[in-house]
Amino acid sequence: MSQLVDQYQRKFEYLRLSITDVCNFKCNYCLPDGYHRQHKATFLTLPEIRHLVAGFASMGAKKVRITGGEPSLRRDLCEIIETVKTTPGIEKVAMTTNGYRMARDASHWRQAGLDSINVSMDSLDANMFHQITGENLLHKVMAGIDAAFAAGFNQVKVNTVLMKGLNSHELASFLAWIKPRNIQLRFIELMQTGDNQALFKAHHVSGASIMVQLLAQGWIEKVRQSTDGPARVFCHPGYQGEIGLIMPYESHFCDSCNRLRVSALGRLHLCLFGEQGTQLRPLLQQSGQLPELQQMLLAALATKRPTHLLHQGEVGGTYHLASVGG
Ligand code: 5AD
Ligand code: SF4
Repeated sequence: MSQLVDQYQRKFEYLRLSITDVCNFKCNYCLPDGYHRQHKATFLTLPEIRHLVAGFASMGAKKVRITGGEPSLRRDLCEIIETVKTTPGIEKVAMTTNGYRMARDASHWRQAGLDSINVSMDSLDANMFHQITGENLLHKVMAGIDAAFAAGFNQVKVNTVLMKGLNSHELASFLAWIKPRNIQLRFIELMQTGDNQALFKAHHVSGASIMVQLLAQGWIEKVRQSTDGPARVFCHPGYQGEIGLIMPYESHFCDSCNRLRVSALGRLHLCLFGEQGTQLRPLLQQSGQLPELQQMLLAALATKRPTHLLHQGEVGGTYHLASVGG
């Protein structure tokens, strides 16, 4: 079967699969007023997920990231992890979480086959964490990170959305924190969405400001692997941890795009800031529909644009990232 390659020769071996759009946090850049259900549909079921992932794997996908919303709010999360992990062709299953259930469940996720975890943590200061996420739960997320290491995850990736005036001055404390820990701390530039325009104007700051400080302090950029995706990673001989920078407003950011997204309602999104998405759900009802699913993926991929249009302030149909899974 044909592989997932687009007309710009980008290869898509990485599927980001949202399994719910529900979230129990209220991050200021994402769901400042909390989650409000805007549809009556049910989320992809376990058999639908099985058929979907088998379809992607048959066309070369090797890695799946489970996202949300907050994926750990689904009671069948462990079954989902296991289903994805045991799909022939899938080598790696990762998940992005807000950390709420991690202290309790990290070992179960590990047992189910989860290979790596990204957890969101926007500040090391409990008050600022509360202000950004709407929840006073820094201690809980911290305990979750400890639990992940204890459960056997060698590295934990931590996502921090960089915001001027909120957490952008915390670089020194983040660096001290990762010095003795195998954490890849990833600063993500705040992205404009349909819902967060005022916040974006007030707090967007380029990741380049962090890069300048890192280079001045002896951090070295690692060579990028073709499968790495768009993060630029820096290391330092005195630190166990690493720093990643995700700068979607840099030119050529999209050249290394290697991912496709499927929403919790079964829509294929070619880009975070793409379109309304292609409905795949009718083709996920039985394994016999595999050829049709493959055809639909290829047809959609043929229309993938070379880059997002964020520079022009165009955010596509994306009101917040909880809907398409960060
Ligand atoms: N800008 C940048 N990152 C975002 N995320 C969600 N919304 C935004 C945004 N507007 C990222 C956060 C979070 C992950 C789930 O999605 O890093 O950790
Ligand atoms: Fe929830 Fe993640 Fe959005 Fe925060 S960024 S509100 S944790 S979905």
